Amino acid sequence: MEKILIITGGSKGLGLGLAKEYHKKGYRVCSVSRSKNEKLYFMEQYQCDLSKTESIENVIKEIFSHLDKKNTQQLTLINNAGDLGTVKTIEKLTPSEIAYTIQVNLTAPMIISSQFIKLSKDWNCKKQIFNISSGAAVNPYESWVMYCASKAGLDMMTKVVSKEQRELSNDVAIVSIYPGIVDTDMQQKVRNTPKKHFKAVQRFIDFYEHGDLFSPEQVAKKIYHLDADGELKNGLILDVRNV
Ligand SMILES: NC(=O)c1ccc[n+]([C@@H]2O[C@H](COP(=O)([O-])OP(=O)(O)OC[C@H]3O[C@@H](n4cnc5c(N)ncnc54)[C@H](OP(=O)(O)O)[C@@H]3O)[C@@H](O)[C@H]2O)c1
Repeated sequence: MEKILIITGGSKGLGLGLAKEYHKKGYRVCSVSRSKNEKLYFMEQYQCDLSKTESIENVIKEIFSHLDKKNTQQLTLINNAGDLGTVKTIEKLTPSEIAYTIQVNLTAPMIISSQFIKLSKDWNCKKQIFNISSGAAVNPYESWVMYCASKAGLDMMTKVVSKEQRELSNDVAIVSIYPGIVDTDMQQKVRNTPKKHFKAVQRFIDFYEHGDLFSPEQVAKKIYHLDADGELKNGLILDVRNV
C-alpha cells in the first residue's frame, strides 16, 4: 500500500525540504510548481503556474488519474507554494499585483483543496490537507498587505473546511502550519527589500545575521514528525516554533 504526498512548490525552499523528507520516509511524492528540475528524479513533477486559476483543476485531475485508491493507505496534500507579493503599501500596488498574490496564496490552495476533497471522496484511506500559512496571518506587517491578508484567508479556509469535514465519516483533516522563519529565497527577497518600501527590513536582516533562521530540512523534519505522531489534528492552527 502506498503513502502519497501531493505538494505544491516542491521545487525549492521549504517545499523541497518537505518533499525530500516524506520521500525518505517512503512516500510517493507528486509536486506542482512552475519549474521542473531533472535532478529531483525522486518525485513526479507537474508544471503549472498556480496564478493561472483555469489550469489548476486539470493538473489535480491529472495527478489523481495516476493514483490508485485501492492501493493507497494515506493521502496528504500540502498547500505549500506561496509568494511574498510586491512589498509596498497598498496604494502603490497595481491591480494585477494585488490579484496575483491572492491567486497564488489563496485561490490556488482553495481550488486544489476543493478538487482534492472531491476526487478523494470515496477513498477509504487517511486523508489530510496541510496549509503552509505564516505568522503574518495574525501579525500585520506594513507593506505586506497581500501576503498577510492571503495567509489570514488561508487560515479561515482551514477553520471553515475543518468544520465541514468534522461530521463526515470519511473525512479529510485540515491544518494550518506556521513554519517559522526559514532560510529560503523568500527570506532573501524580504531582506533585499529597500527600507523605503519595508520599514521592518532590518529586523529580518538581523534574524539572518544572528543565525536565527531554520533550514528547510529542520522545519520539514519537524512537520513530518508531528504528522507521523498524529499531532496534526483537524482544525489545528499550529506555529512549529511552539512545539
Ligand atoms: N521562508 C519563510 O521564512 C516562510 C515563513 C512563513 C511562511 N512561509 C511559507 O512557506 C511556503 C514556502 O515558502 P518558501 O520560503 O519555501 O518560498 P520559496 O523558496 O520562494 O519557494 C516557493 C515555492 O512555491 C512555488 N511557487 C511560487 N509561485 C508559484 C506559482 N505561481 N505557481 C506554482 N508554484 C509557485 C515555487 O516553485 P516555482 O518557482 O518552481 O514555481 C517554489 O517551489 C510559502 O507558502 C510561504 O508563504 C515561508
